[in-house]
Amino acid sequence: MRLVLLGAPGAGKGTQAKKLIEKYRIPQISTGDILRKAVADGTPLGKEAKSYMDSGGLVPDSVVIGLVKERLAQDDCKTGYILDGFPRTTPQAEELDNVLSGMNSPLDVALSVDVDKDDLMKRLTGRRTCRGCQQMYNIHFSAPKKDGVCDKCGGELYQRDDDQEDTIRNRLDVYEKSTAPLIDYYESKGILKSVKGKGSIDDIFNQIVSILGA
Ligand code: AP5
Repeated sequence: MRLVLLGAPGAGKGTQAKKLIEKYRIPQISTGDILRKAVADGTPLGKEAKSYMDSGGLVPDSVVIGLVKERLAQDDCKTGYILDGFPRTTPQAEELDNVLSGMNSPLDVALSVDVDKDDLMKRLTGRRTCRGCQQMYNIHFSAPKKDGVCDKCGGELYQRDDDQEDTIRNRLDVYEKSTAPLIDYYESKGILKSVKGKGSIDDIFNQIVSILGA
């Protein structure tokens, strides 16, 4: 299955992707995760991406498209993948279509996870992630048993640099302007499905599975 997850920052794309990769045994390709690792490693890519990410803007299309092309060519993508956070602009979506049509393997589904704007701010300011195993928590909705410590591996929990209120506001604006138009883009291609992203994580997951099929 070749799947794109669409949705505003904080809609739960990453949360659901982690469950979907276990169910469908295909990799998650998160451009946000790839870029954050590059920033943490101090690579040339990370140095270029950092200022865009810190302000809540988008990293230039040419950079991100190159990353995704490289990743899609790897062996583990042969049976499918979940694109999380890509595409985010119409040029990214068009280039993805070009690459996939060259590989004779078009997307199967673009799944939009829809959450009201008011809920997104609370989700993003409350998000905490484990430095060790990347398990995600939320101090409002799914707090760890012990403050700042991962229940699973005992690792330290951290807050993402771009999860500050001002930056979040900018990310949400950028989403409305640059990424929300992709909902119409995929609808016009006949592959758009939608799910309400409010409610328990497991209920949303079950709805997604019923859309995608067992
Ligand atoms: P990226 O990492 O992709 O961030 P994002 O799209 O802003 O999405 P998030 O990771 O913030 O949210 P999510 O939907 O995955 O929600 P999550 O599951 O974590 O991108 C970061 C930056 O990288 C961008 O701003 C940009 O600069 C750059 N970038 C990345 N891709 C790019 C591209 N293609 N082009 C250009 N630039 C790019 O959940 C959020 C919180 O909510 C968590 O705490 C979670 O526990 C909680 N939660 C989840 N589900 C529920 C629920 N049902 N109920 C209650 N809480 C919930």
